Amino acid sequence: MARVVRFDELGGPEVLKIEDWRLPAPGPGEVAVRVEAIGLNRAEALFRAGTYYYQPTLPGSRLGYEAAGSVTAVGPGVTEVAAGDPVLTGPGIEMSAQGVYADRIVLPATSVLRRPGGLDPVRGAAAWMTYSTAYGGLLETGGLRPGDHVLITAASSGVGLAAVQVAARIGAIPIAVTRSPGKAALLRANGAAEVIVDGPADVPETARKVTGGSGVALIFDPIGGPGLAALGTAAAENGTVVVYGWLGGAAMTLPLNWPLTVRGYANPQLSGTPDGRRRMWHFLDAGVRDGSLRPVVAEVFEGLERVGDAHRLMETNGHAGKIVVTV
Ligand SMILES: NC(=O)c1ccc[n+]([C@@H]2O[C@H](COP(=O)([O-])OP(=O)(O)OC[C@H]3O[C@@H](n4cnc5c(N)ncnc54)[C@H](OP(=O)(O)O)[C@@H]3O)[C@@H](O)[C@H]2O)c1
Repeated sequence: MARVVRFDELGGPEVLKIEDWRLPAPGPGEVAVRVEAIGLNRAEALFRAGTYYYQPTLPGSRLGYEAAGSVTAVGPGVTEVAAGDPVLTGPGIEMSAQGVYADRIVLPATSVLRRPGGLDPVRGAAAWMTYSTAYGGLLETGGLRPGDHVLITAASSGVGLAAVQVAARIGAIPIAVTRSPGKAALLRANGAAEVIVDGPADVPETARKVTGGSGVALIFDPIGGPGLAALGTAAAENGTVVVYGWLGGAAMTLPLNWPLTVRGYANPQLSGTPDGRRRMWHFLDAGVRDGSLRPVVAEVFEGLERVGDAHRLMETNGHAGKIVVTV
């Protein structure tokens, strides 16, 4: 039997409970994994509350995208990994049926990656979603180049800190935005050239000052909402806005200032193809090995039964980086 986290109704962290579940043998194209650490994503809090882009199947929905562990068995046709390999799990999971908040799981091989860069399980659980979103959104979709200024909102989030590191790694100039003055030092330590504290400062006006008036080449934003139109005024002429989340609400207003491209980014664009996974894996492996990509872990909760406490911390927004639950 496996132990899995499930929920029967939409709601707060209190709806999460642990149940026994009969673990099937991996079928064709599937991999069985013993989970060692789980990395939390904002998407999972939204899914639990019923505000994600797809709804859980209730009762008995599972939860979770990201985990680190080791392969215990593979089904017919799986060649990418073998029993004993340290691995990560990530995007492409249908959470209600396959969620990784568990001690043992069976997943499609397309949602399992060999663990790059010799990462330990805790830092591994903080790596795939964060760096693949940052790499795919900034470089492949956003076209960020060395010397470009990039404005990164919600920069203390797991993805935001990864984006600061990815931008710094290629020689771009990350300008980080947070609502929390206490997170500024951590953002600078991770490579932010400037930190703007939203609220006291006017973000677009400050970003334009930092760039000598020209504006940033790229805005990388998971907030959207009614504030996007004003945020867009921080962009340079012919700049780009990549929106990859909706922390500010589902309906967003579009910036109309001047020639500007607004693009959406979702992880399956990259992680959903073997070629995309290959590019992302090599970028992450190289960055972890040379020390330029360092997964930031905000707090570690020990034991699957602490998953509700971990969700409570996420909802305070007091953390910076990835919240991890060890199993
Ligand atoms: N498109 C994709 O493929 C993809 C993949 C992964 C994640 N995402 C999205 O990326 C976002 C971040 O996810 P995560 O798991 O990295 O988050 P996280 O680690 O939980 O961090 C969220 C941080 O964002 C800031 N924040 C929260 N609500 C905000 C709001 N309404 N306005 C401004 N700032 C707010 C808070 O920092 P401060 O208060 O300090 O500013 C908070 O600590 C989510 O929207 C998620 O759905 C998208």
